[in-house]
Parts: sequence; structure tokens; C-alpha cells
Amino acid sequence: MHPEILRRRTFAIIAHPDAGKTTLTEKLLLFGGAIQTAGAVKSNKIKKSTTSDFMEIEKQRGISVSTSVMAFEYGGYKVNILDTPGHEDFAEDTYRTLSAVDSVIMVIDCVKGVEPQTRKLLEVCRMRNTPVIVFINKLDREGRDAFDLLDEIEKELKIRVRPMTWPIGIGKLFKGVYDISAHSLRLFMGDAKDRIVPSVTFTDIHDPAIDREIGHDFAQKLREDVEMIESVYDRFEKEKYLKGEICPVFFGSAVNNFGVKELLDCFVEIAPSPTGRMAEEGFVSPEEKEFSGFIFKIHANLDPRHRDRIAFLRIVSGKFERNKYYHHVREGRELRFSNPTAFMAQQKSVIDEAWPGDVIGLYDPGNFKIGDTLTEGRILHFQGIPTFSPELFRYVTNLDPMKSKQFQKGLEQLTDEGVAQLFTRKTDGRKIIGTVGALQFDVIQFRLKHEYNASASFDVLDLHKAFWITSKNPQALKKFMEDRAPYIAFDKKQRPVFMAESAWIYQMAREKYPDVEFHVKAEY
Ligand code: G4P
Repeated sequence: MHPEILRRRTFAIIAHPDAGKTTLTEKLLLFGGAIQTAGAVKSNKIKKSTTSDFMEIEKQRGISVSTSVMAFEYGGYKVNILDTPGHEDFAEDTYRTLSAVDSVIMVIDCVKGVEPQTRKLLEVCRMRNTPVIVFINKLDREGRDAFDLLDEIEKELKIRVRPMTWPIGIGKLFKGVYDISAHSLRLFMGDAKDRIVPSVTFTDIHDPAIDREIGHDFAQKLREDVEMIESVYDRFEKEKYLKGEICPVFFGSAVNNFGVKELLDCFVEIAPSPTGRMAEEGFVSPEEKEFSGFIFKIHANLDPRHRDRIAFLRIVSGKFERNKYYHHVREGRELRFSNPTAFMAQQKSVIDEAWPGDVIGLYDPGNFKIGDTLTEGRILHFQGIPTFSPELFRYVTNLDPMKSKQFQKGLEQLTDEGVAQLFTRKTDGRKIIGTVGALQFDVIQFRLKHEYNASASFDVLDLHKAFWITSKNPQALKKFMEDRAPYIAFDKKQRPVFMAESAWIYQMAREKYPDVEFHVKAEY
């Protein structure tokens, strides 16, 4: 494989809000020299306390463009961190971003353990067998026992773990971490935000020098713990990690810059270099000479005076070059990009070329939809960007008949961007918006007003779920759609959807129409 591909590491940090994702990202960027001072990376979480959530979202949107991709060089590696929104209402966005990475680091707060978002995000990683490294954070707080935490992670997330480092003490008594395979000890000096305390290396765990460093009692406890680890947990095997079967675990304190370097050093060494992707037409390997890539995210209208959008493209194979013509498969036409941008932390710069694993921003006057494929001419449709059944539904109505064009355009563009899903009811053409979280309705209303000068109102629609329907028997599908006509709608790709009012109604439909298949996820 080309050395430029081999040296790339493209990943995302995932965490339940507040576990320390932003703090860890920042420390990694500091190591990579991409930023010089702490506090430079703005958190893109939406603070619960803010009174006007959507104003906050607008602010965050600006921030999140600059933090969408944070690239830096470290020890000969090119590291690309893809940012995921913290707020659970933006889970869809996170799922799409996860389709563009090759591995993830999951941050867990040692006081709180496994939290709901951790669980959901890991499920998505498991679906794709994405390799995961766990970082247990905030060891300077009175957290839970390390073995208990590992037990909880294994049970709740149904994944095997393997500690790579081990904490000595916790909270006020936190002494440091012991690197199990390197036999080295890094002592915790409290607030060492901007410096790295050197580590001390020993011959093995029985080296009496350990007692001198941390005291006899802690040294004894460490020996017992390490013995326990060796007997309880499987040894670390890179192959198993790459298959997503075992997660290496690190301990530290991101805010104190503690345990972060060990994590980064191990990460660049073991994390996968860019992997290929499945397309409808077959697997595409990063080594293939011809360029290909897919759009997984679109940011629109950052400047309300210009209808500018940035489409984020993950390169799957070949080399991307500026000003070269590429094939937009869905639209069947050739496009060329004169200002493709790369992101080095806060800075955006125009690039001449990019390699598999890289994510670039393409200026987009409205050509792209999420999931679009760009190639050097081949007809390819990349898979793996799922659309999930929304959880909340509302009818959307245009309040100002004079502005119906703007209203339509706004709805189309905002849903292209993936803010929400748009369905059209079969019988009367009524528009229905489906979202994962309630916040999106506010976002849509606000952005329609500010960016398109259109006013929308929402009416409650009490639905259980929307199921995409298919059947091997076209007659059966037709009959179902006729019998249930008031509950049939079409998504933006004109795929039929069954709007089930309750779980019971869904169950009845399944029993009565065994030839119809119901999908909560659309990827076909
Ligand atoms: P997130 O992106 O996952 O939502 O979390 P973020 O990094 O913003 O961290 C959440 C809070 O946890 C922050 O405090 C941060 O300083 C703190 N934190 C992160 N790592 C550690 C750690 O190792 N130890 C301790 N004790 N705290 C940690 P905050 O008060 O919400 O924000 P700030 O005012 O400190 O920025």
C-alpha cells in the first residue's frame, strides 16, 4: 500500500456528554502541535442551561464546521479526528460521521461508568465491527473501582476488554498509571496541564524500585491487581482488536494531560490505516488507483447572505486532486473543485491533493446529498450511511402562502443536510417531518425563518415509528399500500414508508402481510 495511505489514522472520539471528549481532543491536538494553548477547542455541546437552545445551536454550527475534522501530524502519522456532536438529539449526525472513520476512542467517566449515549454509540460501532479503544477518564475524581468499571463495560456493552495500563489509587489517592507491557510507571503530579511527567521503567512488576516510588502498600496492591489482570483478561491481540472483538483500555485524566500520551502512542501504532468500503457494486479497497469517495455530512448556509454549503467527503480510494473532473454518480455529471479544503484544527486551507482516509470539504452550491458518491468515472454507490426511523413526527405547514417556494426549498435543503427526514403522505401529499430529538423542530423553524424567510408551524402527529417497506412480491407490496393508504408516505428518495401508529398496529400489519418486509433502517 502507498505510504501516504499507511500512515493515516482516521477516527472519532465518542462519549456520553461531559465524559471529557472535548478535553481529550484538545490534549491530542496539543501533542500534535495543531494548537498551542489549552482552551482553543470549543466544546460543541449544547449547554442544558441555555434559554434559547436554537441560538446556541446556531453558534455551535459555526464552531462545528471548524471542528468537523481536526488533522495533525504525530510521529510520522497523519491523524484525522472527526468530531461528533455531543447532544443526543443529533445522534443521526454522529451515526453518519461514524461511517467515515476507521476506528474510535470511547471516553468513559470513571465516576459515572457506562452511560446511555455510550451504549447507543457503541452499538453502531459493533454493527460495523469498528475497532474501539476505551479511555477511562477523570481518575483524579473519586470514581469507581477499576475492576468494577471493566466488568460493567464488558457486561453492558457486550464486548471483551483488555487493560493496557492500570491505575494506582483513585481520586485524592491517585498515584499514577502502570503500563502493563512496558513495565513503566507514570506518576501523577496533580495539575500538570501543560507538561508531561516522565515515566520510570522497571525490570518487572516485582522490581523493589516500585515500592520506593509509590510506597509498599500501593506496590503490593498493584502486583495483586496485575496478577489478577493476567489471569482474568485475555492477552491483547491486535488482530482481535482490528476485528472489533476486544477493546484495549487505558486509564487517565484528560484535563490533567495524564495518560493521554500513552493512549496516543498506542493508538497510532495499533489503529487501522484507512480501510475500504462496501459499495453496491462490490468492495472498494483504498489501494485502488482510481479515486472514489462519499459525502457523509453537509453544512449549509453558514453565512445567511450566501447560500454556501460545505460537503464533507471521505476519500475511499485513489488520490483526490484539485481541479480534476470527477464523476457525480447520482447526477451522472462531471464536477471539478477549485477550492477543496483540508482542516488542520482551526485552520482551513486549500489543498492540492488528498489520500484515502482524508476528509475534505467541498464547496457545494447544492449538488450533493448525504450518501452521494464521487468517482473517477466508475459507477459506484457506497453503502453504510444508514437512515434510521425517526422517533418524533410532526406535520409541517407553510404559514405564509406568498412564501411557498422558499418554504419548499428550505425544507428540501435542510433535510438534504440531514437535520431531519421529510416524508410526503401518499393520500394527500401532506408533509411530515421526522426527527430523532425534539430540538430539531426548533432548529428547522428557526432556520426556515432566518435563512429562507419562510414560516412553518408544526402539528403533533402521534406515531410509533416509520418503517421502510419492501417485498419480493410487488403485488403484495401494492396491496399493502392500498389497504393502508392513509398510513403510507414516501421519503425523499421516493421509497415507501409505513407510518405505524403503535407497536401493536405494526405487529398486526406484519402478521397480516407476511410477504412485506419492514425496515427500521434504510440503507438500500
Ligand atoms: P464532553 O466534550 O465529553 O462533553 O466533555 P468536556 O471535555 O467538555 O468535559 C466535561 C467536564 O469534565 C469539563 O468540566 C472538563 O473540564 C471536565 N474534565 C475533563 N477531563 C477531566 C478529568 O480528567 N478530571 C476532571 N476532574 N475533570 C475533567 P466543566 O466544568 O464542564 O467545564 P470547564 O469549565 O472545566 O471547561
